[in-house]
Amino acid sequence: MSGIFERIAAIGVVPVIAIDRVQDALPLADALLEGGLPLAEITFRTEAAAQAIAALTAQRPELLVGAGTLLDAGAVAQAVSCGAAFGLAPGFDPTVLDAASRQQLPFAPGVMTPSDLSLAAARGLRVAKFFPAGIVGGPAALTGISAPFSHLGMQFIPTGGVSQATLADWLRLPQVLAVGGTWIARSEDIRAGHFGEITRLARAARQQVAQ
Ligand code: 3PG
Repeated sequence: MSGIFERIAAIGVVPVIAIDRVQDALPLADALLEGGLPLAEITFRTEAAAQAIAALTAQRPELLVGAGTLLDAGAVAQAVSCGAAFGLAPGFDPTVLDAASRQQLPFAPGVMTPSDLSLAAARGLRVAKFFPAGIVGGPAALTGISAPFSHLGMQFIPTGGVSQATLADWLRLPQVLAVGGTWIARSEDIRAGHFGEITRLARAARQQVAQ
């Protein structure tokens, strides 16, 4: 497994972030760091994403910053050029996987079904995002879907519908590397400058991981 994913596993929670304004990037980073959560997945769903990643990697090197919602090879190239340390996607797209591999970007594609897992396993991937984790059926769904692949040692980042309330249920599973979600750094809190709330939620999540 890439050293980046080992670092993500040690942190345990991936805050998934959609940022609208580049100027919010540094206060957001400081809020996460203050809460003991030195990790951020900046999603390529907003115009500001690439610039926010560039600002964070340049000015907050203690924060591990990745790019999310990488839906095509162009997004992968952009993520790499702005300094993202890892990439994630909601789905399994071979062209995105190829681009990430060409650019040597540690990358976890989205999987939801045994067919997706089979395709990921055939490519030698050992880390995938399980998405949308809650809607598909929660920890029981991941347990069932991943069982035939357990001998391969695949690890998952369940995301989508995960919350502080369900975090512990996911982390209990040995095949869960870390969990992801938007509940820690919500777009409305970022927009409103409620960075204290982000610190509070980050700290609560980290405490849950530590238990
Ligand atoms: C993602 O992009 O990973 C999901 O939108 C996060 O889902 P959540 O909002 O339910 O955490």
